Amino acid sequence: MLDLAARLKREPYSLRPLEGPQSAAVFFDKTSTRTRFSFAAGIAALGGNAVIVNPGEAQLGAKESISDTAKVLSRMMSLIVWRTFAHAGLEEMAANSTVPDINSLSDDFHPCQILADLQTIREQKGELPGLTATYVGDAANNMGHSYLLGFATAGMHIRVAGPETHMPRADIIADAKKIAATTGGSVTLFTDPVAAVQGADAVITDTWVSMGQEAEKAERVAIFGDYRVTPQLMAEAKPDAIFLHCLPAYREFEVAPEVIDGPQSVVWDEAENRLHAQKALMAWLLKESK
Ligand code: CP
Ligand code: NVA
Repeated sequence: MLDLAARLKREPYSLRPLEGPQSAAVFFDKTSTRTRFSFAAGIAALGGNAVIVNPGEAQLGAKESISDTAKVLSRMMSLIVWRTFAHAGLEEMAANSTVPDINSLSDDFHPCQILADLQTIREQKGELPGLTATYVGDAANNMGHSYLLGFATAGMHIRVAGPETHMPRADIIADAKKIAATTGGSVTLFTDPVAAVQGADAVITDTWVSMGQEAEKAERVAIFGDYRVTPQLMAEAKPDAIFLHCLPAYREFEVAPEVIDGPQSVVWDEAENRLHAQKALMAWLLKESK
């Protein structure tokens, strides 16, 4: 899929699996900038038409069940993309639809972001297996979970550092370790961010307050205060280490401006790669995997 993403970056209109145009449903139960524009642009570039549904605009959820929605959409749409809260909703959609379903962020996972991050790291560092990446901050959020699974799948050494109270879910750690055992990667958890970052090829963070957690902001800022990515923390990584952040970023909290706006940061390539990686994902689901 990453090879396909690289090809689509070089030749943006070389695959047209949605030619027709066929339509794709893109639901948002939470706000978005990158996901919204990258899916809209990507679906158009693959020859299709994006039907974007903002929070509260469809019957889905309040007035109509997920399973009925899935059955109706399967008759009209070629693809369903959904950003939502509870991950179980996506599983219900997938179980009841006959077209591919893409998780564009749930409370538990953000896999599309992982594809873009892997594409970005590969562009900067070459082959992924054997590289070490450290994610610092809210290890219990959707990004923490997805880094464990996605980077272990890529054969990387994924280290996650967060406070004891906000470690990844135990079943996800176990799954990631199982995957790593088959790919040559590894999974290591830390509470000390300095130890976690030592010798890393990539240092990554995310917001301390994910969508839906706004009421806990003051408490979270206090809990994660020691996990801010500063120039001092970056200095513990390899001299040529890169910095990633899925964005939106809060420069007063999880990352210092000198880091995110500095020479080691690849966050704009990372944001752009959402477009290419998701086009590859859609092309693969619609055609290349058949
Ligand atoms: N990184 C990411 O998913 O950004 P948006 O919330 O803006 O879509
Ligand atoms: N963890 C963040 C990711 C945003 C793209 C959130 O869920 O809000």
